[in-house]
Amino acid sequence: MSNARLGVNIDHVATVRNARGESYPSPLRAALEAEKFGADGITAHLREDRRHIQDQDISDLINNLKIPLNLEMAATEEMLQIALKNKPNACCIVPEKREEVTTEGGINTIKNFDILKSYTNLLKRNGSRVSLFINADQTQIDNCKKIGVDIIEIHTGKYCQLIETDNSEAQEELDIITTMAEYADTIGLEVHAGHGITFKSIKPLAQIKFFREFNIGHFIIGESIFLGLQDTIKKMKSIILES
Ligand code: PXP
Repeated sequence: MSNARLGVNIDHVATVRNARGESYPSPLRAALEAEKFGADGITAHLREDRRHIQDQDISDLINNLKIPLNLEMAATEEMLQIALKNKPNACCIVPEKREEVTTEGGINTIKNFDILKSYTNLLKRNGSRVSLFINADQTQIDNCKKIGVDIIEIHTGKYCQLIETDNSEAQEELDIITTMAEYADTIGLEVHAGHGITFKSIKPLAQIKFFREFNIGHFIIGESIFLGLQDTIKKMKSIILES
């Protein structure tokens, strides 16, 4: 049985809204419904190109949610200032390329060590918990510890794609994720997981007892077309609890 939290990422409610330039569907409404239906937190990624979540969404979420907001952000001066101004409960620093469809891999903590350390200090001093979105790799985890973050979020995208298609390499990838989650937990980091998670992939991931939180977006919003947001969130939470 896992008692990991479920963070619901509402970015793609904003994707649908922005496709027509209307004010609906409202990401805030989705977040408040998610809160009501058992989400433990809300995640939103304010991308540099504002392709989904907008600046106003962030302040609306902060001003109206009772559950924590996890702001995903690139390590840029603009995003740092927005995070410092809005003081979200947590900031998850992610790599960002304008041309990518989604966040393709973890952040490189070797290349970006100095900027990540400086942003982490500023954000933590401002009252936000800080997380780095990384690949399941020991050098990256060691660097997270040196940088001084509270949390790491392991990028599960590759594993989720493999398991979804019943690829025989899925188990190998899951073993790496398990080993690295345990390692990070042992050195005192809180361990989260996210990217590409579905009803199928959450089960084996939730059996890894070192995960304290799962952040799930695209699948939950997509599945809500068929099941509705309430039943999708309830089902995801019950799979986590029963795993
Ligand atoms: N966690 C992080 C750090 C992410 O960047 C994303 C995608 O924005 C997610 C979780 C959610 O991924 P998905 O939308 O594939 O569930």
